[in-house]
Amino acid sequence: MNGKQWRIVLRDPATKKTVAFLCSDHTTVLEAARTAGIVLQAACERGGCGACRALVVRGEIRHAGPVTDKAQTHPSTGRKECVLLCRAIPQGPATIEPLASWTLTRIKPMSELLRESA
Ligand code: FES
Repeated sequence: MNGKQWRIVLRDPATKKTVAFLCSDHTTVLEAARTAGIVLQAACERGGCGACRALVVRGEIRHAGPVTDKAQTHPSTGRKECVLLCRAIPQGPATIEPLASWTLTRIKPMSELLRESA
């Protein structure tokens, strides 16, 4: 694979639990999360609706493609401070807090299940 891969940590806004996965520098955080079995809230997937809003706790994220100011605006603070995960490309390791909780759908690999039952 060409390009770099970065460790992305998602932090749940309510529970503060975290989950980590790898994201390349040419894949959106939303796509990489899906590949890792993490379902993030999203709708338009074009940077326009704000359903995938998140705050960057640590690291640097750039948007690939156009995004609207309205979609980047935090609904509570009114400030344009959110990244949109459907357009978000990491520039290095990052910790991100989506405004909405996520769901894990990942099925444990057999080796992990066998280790747990031993
Ligand atoms: S899903 Fe609509 S802005 Fe990301």
